[in-house]
Amino acid sequence: MADKKLITVVGATGAQGGSTARALLRDPSFAVRAVTRDPDSDAARALADAGAEVVRADIDDEASLVAALEGAYGAYFVTFFWAHFSPEVEQAQAERMARAAKTAGIQHAIWSTLEDTRRFVPLDDDRMPTLMGEYKVPHFDAKGSANHFFTDAGVPTTFLQTAFYWDNLIVGSGPQRGEDGSLVLMLPMGDAPLSGIAVEDIGKVAAGILAAGDTYIGQTVSIAGEHLTVAEMAAQLSDAIGQSVTYVAIDPEVYRGLGFPGAEDTGNMFQFFRDFSDYFVGERDLTLVRQLNPELLSFREWLAAHADEIPIPPEEG
Ligand SMILES: NC(=O)c1ccc[n+]([C@@H]2O[C@H](COP(=O)([O-])OP(=O)(O)OC[C@H]3O[C@@H](n4cnc5c(N)ncnc54)[C@H](OP(=O)(O)O)[C@@H]3O)[C@@H](O)[C@H]2O)c1
Repeated sequence: MADKKLITVVGATGAQGGSTARALLRDPSFAVRAVTRDPDSDAARALADAGAEVVRADIDDEASLVAALEGAYGAYFVTFFWAHFSPEVEQAQAERMARAAKTAGIQHAIWSTLEDTRRFVPLDDDRMPTLMGEYKVPHFDAKGSANHFFTDAGVPTTFLQTAFYWDNLIVGSGPQRGEDGSLVLMLPMGDAPLSGIAVEDIGKVAAGILAAGDTYIGQTVSIAGEHLTVAEMAAQLSDAIGQSVTYVAIDPEVYRGLGFPGAEDTGNMFQFFRDFSDYFVGERDLTLVRQLNPELLSFREWLAAHADEIPIPPEEG
């Protein structure tokens, strides 16, 4: 145990942190300290059963974060935008984590971030609306503009730019019934490729970054599992579920108006993916991602393991 590098993992009961904890637990050179607000939850108990040390901390409480980071070599930091929908809260949480990492003397932090889209679409660019007064894609911009907290605090950090989870198909972004009753994937992506990834691979990449020692400190590592148009995704989904799914390209403005919480934010996000796909795809070099995680799944491979978890709305009547 003493020769293992201890990694504190924020969000360990969730998607990114969970995959990171599981990936690190497979590697005998690492030990995992899993952060949760509720060590008695089923997810926290499962982590303890798998060999993690489970500690109670809250990213809104700096003292609890420092305690969770004390004695650790490294940390995986992620924020939870959809828990509060506030870019300012997200930035404050990132700043708090960076300060706590400095206080605890963390030697390698991975900060799960995303592009500040305002570098590409300035606020006065009216191709998409400005949201909440000063953002284009609030849950991207807040993360990207929080990167400097880690550098300012002098925390040795790798900036991990993630991508669209294919697992979203299981939790709300799966096929719907179109007006004619057929199965459709409705997204405002035009014919542009969508960079997607299996959640489980995010953690495996994070483990690969930590296993590479200091190599990626100070660097931005941008990841995906595959870049596919939504029409290609629909075709592969059709094969996997044995029912025809077609892609319906809608206008970003229509998507923004769908009315669910976060529709405007994610509408702008898809428009950013569509309008800047050369940048977004080019930034996510699958060769590097595969070096960090040789088990990286393609969408077809992810479907082979998970298609039966995707909810398929029943036929009407
Ligand atoms: N969905 C996508 O396609 C996608 C793609 C790229 C990036 N992202 C980003 O991923 C982030 C979310 O990460 P995720 O998907 O891993 O989240 P998630 O699966 O929803 O995980 C949430 C976990 O975070 C913990 N948590 C929530 N608030 C906390 C707090 N105040 N202090 C400590 N722990 C807290 C909860 O653990 P306990 O209840 O056990 O405390 C929960 O298990 C978002 O900011 C989103 O923008 C999402």
